[in-house]
Amino acid sequence: MSTVIVTGGAGFLGSRLIERLLAAIDAGELPFAADRLVSLDLAPNRNEDPRVESVVGDLADPALLAQVVGPDTVAIYHLAAVLSGGSEEDFDLAMRVNVEATTRLLEAARRSGSAPRFVFTSSLAVFGGPMPPLVPETLAAQPESSYGAMKAMGELLVNEYSRKGWIDARICRLPTISVRPGAPNSAASSFASGIIREPLLGLTSNCPVPLDTQMWLSSPRTVIENLLHAVAIDPALLGAWRVMNVPGISVSVGEMLAALERVGGADARALVTTEPEERVIDIVCSWPGAFDVERTRALGFRADVDFDTAVREFRDEFAPQR
Ligand SMILES: NC(=O)c1ccc[n+]([C@@H]2O[C@H](COP(=O)([O-])OP(=O)(O)OC[C@H]3O[C@@H](n4cnc5c(N)ncnc54)[C@H](O)[C@@H]3O)[C@@H](O)[C@H]2O)c1
Repeated sequence: MSTVIVTGGAGFLGSRLIERLLAAIDAGELPFAADRLVSLDLAPNRNEDPRVESVVGDLADPALLAQVVGPDTVAIYHLAAVLSGGSEEDFDLAMRVNVEATTRLLEAARRSGSAPRFVFTSSLAVFGGPMPPLVPETLAAQPESSYGAMKAMGELLVNEYSRKGWIDARICRLPTISVRPGAPNSAASSFASGIIREPLLGLTSNCPVPLDTQMWLSSPRTVIENLLHAVAIDPALLGAWRVMNVPGISVSVGEMLAALERVGGADARALVTTEPEERVIDIVCSWPGAFDVERTRALGFRADVDFDTAVREFRDEFAPQR
């Protein structure tokens, strides 16, 4: 038995990733054998494929981790997290999940002796302070939020366990994901989906940041393809520093609303108000709007063609009447 574990496997990205991993196994796309996928989450994963096992529990529980992570673990995707808005609101919970549980998971992987491939979903929120227009992977992290600080701590921990040879890390700094279906979440960047999703569904939405705010975006489909690619990269191609800026597209909020109007019409655009919200501005406007992704593109990661395509993909799947 060869197992791939997805923490946060019941979440938005985790559940989509598990579906995509099943297809990848069927198509022989993974460079290692895998015949069992474990979702480890506070919530159940409802995928009915018999290869998916849903383990419901707290990632911070070392006894649970010892049961789940074993010598058959070939890869771990560590996605479970308290997101940006939630981390700002509840520091203690965020520390417990984003830092302590991450450390315990790394320890469990170390003790398993299986040196699994380990994909960690970091974020552009690790950056802050003065930044060049194109942010390199090597720029010092100067986070301006609890979430960003905890992701930066996670990056260093994961990289160090990899340097010691206990795991084989692939640390992916993901762009902000848009257009994300479903309800708004606790991420400060939740509006980046809300200002497209809600109007396409005939609902009002507020844009809380200035229209010239530059966002670094990826569609869900492209992020999932990049996460699949991350686990498959030949370790010989990765240096000692395993942190990677995953490609995105740089789009201003004004351009996002123009794309909404092109795809959804003027009546959809008219549903978006522009009331500033300081809590969101403080977090989101400290994030960079564009990254140097020459290395990750050479490693085979991809970006969306343009934002209109991401909006059309959402419309076609969730609002086909538009
Ligand atoms: N969505 C984005 O725009 C974005 C951007 C950059 C990075 N990321 C990162 O990608 C990852 C997945 O994000 P998402 O959008 O799918 O978030 P999500 O909130 O939909 O999923 C996170 C999951 O983690 C689970 N979880 C939280 N605490 C847990 C605990 N103690 N034990 C077990 N499970 C726990 C939650 O139940 C949830 O299902 C996160 O690490 C996030 O920081 C997301």
